[in-house]
Amino acid sequence: SASSASSPVSSQVLVASNRGPVSYTRAEDGTLTAKRGGGGLVSGLSAIGPGTDAVWVCAALGEGDREAARRTGGRLDRAETGGQTVRMLDIPAETFEAAYHGVANSVLWFTHHMLYQTSLEPAFDDGFTDQWARYETYNAAFADALAQEAEQGATVLVQDYHLTLVPLLLRERRPDLRIGHFSHTPWAPADYYGMLPDDVAARVLRGMLGADRTAFLTTRWARLFTECCERVLGADVTGEGGTLAVTYEGRTTRIGVHPLGADGDFLRERAHRDDVAERMAQLRDQVGTGPDGLPRRTLVRVDRTELSKNIVRGLHAYRRLLTDRPEWREHVVHLAFAYPSRQDLAVYRDYTAEVGRVAEEINSAFGTPGWTPVVLHVKDDFARSLAAYRMADVALVNPIRDGMNLVAKEIPVVSDEGCALVLSREAGAHEEMAADAFCVNPFDVRQTADAVHAALRLDAPTRASHSRRLAETATAHPPTRWLLDQLRELA
Ligand code: F6P
Repeated sequence: SASSASSPVSSQVLVASNRGPVSYTRAEDGTLTAKRGGGGLVSGLSAIGPGTDAVWVCAALGEGDREAARRTGGRLDRAETGGQTVRMLDIPAETFEAAYHGVANSVLWFTHHMLYQTSLEPAFDDGFTDQWARYETYNAAFADALAQEAEQGATVLVQDYHLTLVPLLLRERRPDLRIGHFSHTPWAPADYYGMLPDDVAARVLRGMLGADRTAFLTTRWARLFTECCERVLGADVTGEGGTLAVTYEGRTTRIGVHPLGADGDFLRERAHRDDVAERMAQLRDQVGTGPDGLPRRTLVRVDRTELSKNIVRGLHAYRRLLTDRPEWREHVVHLAFAYPSRQDLAVYRDYTAEVGRVAEEINSAFGTPGWTPVVLHVKDDFARSLAAYRMADVALVNPIRDGMNLVAKEIPVVSDEGCALVLSREAGAHEEMAADAFCVNPFDVRQTADAVHAALRLDAPTRASHSRRLAETATAHPPTRWLLDQLRELA
């Protein structure tokens, strides 16, 4: 509802993202169970908490959500979501699938993470043209809902590659609003971005430039975005670092950089609850003790089973370590947590199978009756992830390309004895954490194996001091500050 003309500027904040803060599953008997949404985006925005008049607009992701949206007329109040007022859009399944899996996940995600094997893909044809039309419809549904929900002069924070067209569509509907856009992914270099059909490449950029400010997790991604604006739109780019701006068709959009950090207070408290202690006891059994009678060292990774996370090369690096440096056999366990993601896409299903296959190969090549070299867990369990964080001697974070990677930040914050970090130079987190990490080229399996070896060999005091510095950096921009900085800049 719009406020009266005497109070033209509202402090109301609206968030728009594909995945909302809550998602529902429906049991056989029709009961709906709510689950908190996962991932960096939701973690960052969880700072918009109870007691604000914020409205979060998101899509119904599956049958459970659709049912919840139908039962409530699409409006879930705070009591139901455990915090925010949520407007859940019941977008027709076919439109949603085409926009989410077709355009967002199979094209924009692949482009920004540079995941195509370009001899085969992408090939844009009629199928894509149809999906793109649905992506426009899906974006328009968000713009309509936001235009309806926003008070006069309210602030709208639009999230990610699913909603690139929303800023411009919303500005056309509601020029009174302050509009921000945030990308939680990397941005592609202009040569790679140029694979998109020309009109699509331009539409995405123009859509985002409809915002007053569009922001990224690192300076590197922000720079690549402005290069695309220059190359594709012929836009003018001015400034450096935090003062970058893009001027196109007479309007200037400011470009922001806001690295998202770990929520240290929340994580430390959560990691010391009973359910985590229980999981630690189970994991300790699985890790066991080495021939020297000491608990084995742990190499920990926790990811969605996501192509860009580079889990298979991580396993190859671990195999290389055990092959080249037999002194580690029986003395180390790789706790690899790989939680299935986007299983509607065949390429993700294949990747998930490959992760399982390689882990098994390593176990059958090296395992002994008392030692399982790779302990692979695929069932998403936050308490068990935290248990592994606490037990980590070395964290392996080796993505091909990643917007930030919060796991790299979370593990040092939570680890009990301090952990060393093997970190891909292609992760956004590298921009802040390189000084205290073992940095690797994610494609270089041998280098990764060497880095894991060096990290495992650190003596305990050195590892603890690395870990302390990593944790300090990791918590420098907690979600609340990350969010408030953006709101301040927009105001
Ligand atoms: O942009 C990154 C992101 O939104 C993260 O927050 C999260 O890790 C991931 O993508 C979630 O993907 P999906 O919603 O498709 O499961």
